Amino acid sequence: MLNVKPHNCYYAALFFSIIYKVMTPNLQEYLTASLKRIEQTSNLTDCQRLFHGRGHAYQGLEHVNLDWFSPVVLITLYQEVEAAWLEKQVADIQKLLPQCQSIQVQYRSRKFAPSEVLWGEAITELRAQEHGLKYHISLGKAQNSGLFLDMGNGRNWVKNNSQGRNVLNLFAYTCAFSVAALAGGAEKVVNIDMSKGALSKGRENHKLNKQDGNKVKYEGVDIFKSYNRLKKHGPYDLLICDPPSFQKGSVNIQRDYKKIIKRLPELMANNSDVVLCLNSPDLSEEFLLAEVARECPQCQYQYRIDNPRVFVEAETGKGLKVLYFRYVELCEKAVVN
Ligand SMILES: C[S@@+](CC[C@H](N)C(=O)[O-])C[C@H]1O[C@@H](n2cnc3c(N)ncnc32)[C@H](O)[C@@H]1O
Repeated sequence: MLNVKPHNCYYAALFFSIIYKVMTPNLQEYLTASLKRIEQTSNLTDCQRLFHGRGHAYQGLEHVNLDWFSPVVLITLYQEVEAAWLEKQVADIQKLLPQCQSIQVQYRSRKFAPSEVLWGEAITELRAQEHGLKYHISLGKAQNSGLFLDMGNGRNWVKNNSQGRNVLNLFAYTCAFSVAALAGGAEKVVNIDMSKGALSKGRENHKLNKQDGNKVKYEGVDIFKSYNRLKKHGPYDLLICDPPSFQKGSVNIQRDYKKIIKRLPELMANNSDVVLCLNSPDLSEEFLLAEVARECPQCQYQYRIDNPRVFVEAETGKGLKVLYFRYVELCEKAVVN
């Protein structure tokens, strides 16, 4: 995006801002359409993506996402933009979403992804509901809010498939899957994440939903160094594994996913469910299927859990992939005399 400072050269700024206005696609149109769709299905929930530019389906707006964390609209920018453009979005959002009380922006292209309140109240903490469950949301502190909106269907799937089960939640973060599993009747959920801070948010999320704390375990350890801790509470009837694609000094999922997949026979009960997630634009569903076929053929692929509809992608397979497998122990070959 062009970023010419008007005070440096007035005429250049004027010229570029005219070109910019002519060339920049109109986010308001897309947002209006998105809100209309939401309105038609009476589906404006407490938290959802309103516009997903990162899917590259809206040319010229690949650097913009808009999220609704009631009553806040969060604009996430992956590239610098003109101040005038941002001002226009603020005015449009106010008109389109009168229930909005705060418009904030997060600059992902800047160091430490700083945030700013563009209009309204400086709301930094709120509680959002999704599928009848509540989650703590933090804005303006860390890069992520505490709830990944693209995983909404995954959480609902877990809620619908947890009755009476012993669940292992790897890379648990703020334990949103654990909240969903307990709501779905899980007997026990074991949450593993090396961030103790994230797990303590998870504890708060369970409290917020008045869930039985005795059914939840938290292990603040490095998954790749603590397989015995993972095994301690097993065997599991349901495993959810949602790793980052890359975290310095910790995970490179292209290299490391197989390390987890090959351990599944030590962790899983026979006839159990395995949900493996992959969130790298550079690694396809086929990559994950091939890793599983090679490292753990006991996992039989069932289907992909789709992302919420708003997460439109120009090229399928670039966004989040959530794959469901059934773990079935292979029969010993009959010994023929
Ligand atoms: C993408 S988030 C997981 C999102 C989560 N599953 C959810 O549904 O909200 C990635 C998490 O992986 C954790 N993590 C990264 N490397 C890890 C490791 N080696 N062992 C344990 N946790 C790790 C991070 O602390 C972070 O909380």
